[in-house]
Amino acid sequence: MNAAPDVRLPSADDYLAMMMANDWLAMGYSTIVERLEQLARPAARILDLGCGPGIFTRYLADTLAVHALGVDPSDDMIAVANRHFAADRVHFLAGQPDEILRPLAGQFDIVVSCFVLMHLPETDSHRQLAECALSALRHGGHAIFLDMNPASVGVQFASVRNGEPGLSYAPGDPMVTTVLTPDGPLQVHDLYWSAAHYRKSVESAGFSVLEQFTLPPPPNDNTPADQFTVLIAEKK
Ligand SMILES: C[S@@+](CC[C@H](N)C(=O)[O-])C[C@H]1O[C@@H](n2cnc3c(N)ncnc32)[C@H](O)[C@@H]1O
Repeated sequence: MNAAPDVRLPSADDYLAMMMANDWLAMGYSTIVERLEQLARPAARILDLGCGPGIFTRYLADTLAVHALGVDPSDDMIAVANRHFAADRVHFLAGQPDEILRPLAGQFDIVVSCFVLMHLPETDSHRQLAECALSALRHGGHAIFLDMNPASVGVQFASVRNGEPGLSYAPGDPMVTTVLTPDGPLQVHDLYWSAAHYRKSVESAGFSVLEQFTLPPPPNDNTPADQFTVLIAEKK
């Protein structure tokens, strides 16, 4: 019989190392940047909701010449973000996003939230995250959610596999994600959520969904399946 897998969540340092060991920008983030560059009214203030170690928050600020705020409930993530990526126009705050953002309601042109929805534990927490994004945005502002593509569960990509091949999952089912890191495979406890569930949650928070589409893996990965899902919504 096989031993039980060593299941743990990556620390902020490990998570950042994992991103930097991979072509992280090609993991859906560059598409977000392209979309933001195409906006009719350029953004001035961007919120990165669930910013993790802050590498994308800083990239957004540098590439788009905007002010960027990253918020995350994890002190560990924000400590790493502050150590590596804080700058004049880039700030990070640790704590419950809805509490931190209450005084900043309506102040952001854009909210990005990358690989956060897939880690949330309950059906309601997706709507709550979307409500938090909605409240932070000005009217006419956009939210962009990037996540792993739920339709590719079980597919072995070059650097990751969500779930087990051959198993089918219902929304809320526990699912193990296996990430290949420089130190070997890392297994992370996740839950399965569908793209339709993400869309419903964002709509029930009060957003108008403009687009929902999938993206292929990075160019160095020839797996014939789409690895990422993107949802773009507007606060009317
Ligand atoms: C997989 S990491 C993604 C980090 C970052 N967005 C990125 O793309 O590198 C997921 C992050 O979501 C954060 N998180 C968990 N629950 C959250 C919540 N309710 N609201 C905002 N962020 C949350 C975690 O602390 C973690 O930093």
